[in-house]
Amino acid sequence: MSLSRIISNPSVQRFGGSVLRTFAPRLQFGTTAVFSTWHDVQEILKRDMDFLIAPINGERIERVNGPFILGMDRKDTHLSERQALYSAIRHSDPDKIQKLVDDQAQQILNTIPAGGKIDIVNEYARIIAARSALAFLGTECPSEEDRMRVARALFHECFLNLGDDETIRSKAVAAGEELKNWLLEEIKKRRQSKKQKDDLIGRMITDGLLDDDAIRRNVSGMLVGAIDTTATCVAQIMDVFLNRPMVMDAVLKDLDNPDLMRGWCWEALRFYAHNPIIQRQAAHDTTIGTTNIKAGTRIICFTLSAMHDKGAFPLPKQFNPKRPEQNYLHFGGGLHPCAGRAINGVQIPALVAALLARDPKIEDNIAFDGPFPDRFVLRLQK
Ligand code: HEM
Repeated sequence: MSLSRIISNPSVQRFGGSVLRTFAPRLQFGTTAVFSTWHDVQEILKRDMDFLIAPINGERIERVNGPFILGMDRKDTHLSERQALYSAIRHSDPDKIQKLVDDQAQQILNTIPAGGKIDIVNEYARIIAARSALAFLGTECPSEEDRMRVARALFHECFLNLGDDETIRSKAVAAGEELKNWLLEEIKKRRQSKKQKDDLIGRMITDGLLDDDAIRRNVSGMLVGAIDTTATCVAQIMDVFLNRPMVMDAVLKDLDNPDLMRGWCWEALRFYAHNPIIQRQAAHDTTIGTTNIKAGTRIICFTLSAMHDKGAFPLPKQFNPKRPEQNYLHFGGGLHPCAGRAINGVQIPALVAALLARDPKIEDNIAFDGPFPDRFVLRLQK
């Protein structure tokens, strides 16, 4: 088994976290420092002038998309583009997303008879996430397959190409060019119509705060964050529940309660995280508590470990759907909290609840396409 497969194993990550929290909560080696407690991780994310994101993501994102807020540190361009993006997001309607996700989930699950099998990644969560992204963003592409393909290629290069693999990079550069042309074409077409559609592109055109290329860059940045993230979360949450019958029994009692279902889903991601770490880079010599950190140090915020820190998650080994939502680190924090968190809070629990209502059993374990869960077959017994 490859080293990357071992360290992406959730039990190995949780064990590593408990060792670090106990013996080396601020571990430094070479030009890297790992922070494993909830308090330190929160502090690092809040101190965005000391701990930067551009050295981590900036170059990769610019190469395949042009500048985007997730690759920018606090400066005028970042603040004006972030404001334009959030002013357009603010008017989106979570109920509309809820209805779309519920309808799509039923439409797909109704085609599977009792006892039938379904791949909950490519025959369910990834498709529905691509459809809700189209409805929410307006990201018209020649086909649904194209939308999913380019989103995965760009996500892979921007966040998961840790070995700087040239094949992954050139595939992403090509996909970025395709997406750029499709979106600029769509924006040009929209500008000719009197009434704008009620989606992110439509609202950004109406707001008039950004030019076409800035609208394109921001909307494609959102698209890249929207599809494989959601599919990965659904697959991993189902894996956690289906391998813990006691927890599953408790979850099944709350299927019709969206708030508790969301709590159960965030708890499951604490045991099998979408991203167990968040990275930053020290802008200058600074300190965390009494620990000295040199300028240029790569900072690893071990968010999975932080979410097992009993200071913020009492009885961390227990599943408790009523924990304070603001303590979770699944969606980051500080200057760069996930811009899709409102959608995530509706879409992910809805996709999981609809599946659980069909009494699923694992048929084959999760199979991966590189770092992405790409196939997870369940048998729906009801
Ligand atoms: C519709 C779904 C989603 C969209 C549109 C979306 C979009 C975004 C965007 C635009 C950012 C950057 C925010 C900024 O820089 O100000 C972001 C950050 C982030 N998103 Fe999402 N996202 C989505 C789903 C998810 C999911 C399901 C996860 C997984 C748990 C996730 C995890 C994160 C994290 C951890 C960050 C912060 C990254 C950092 O601080 O380095 N996102 N997201």
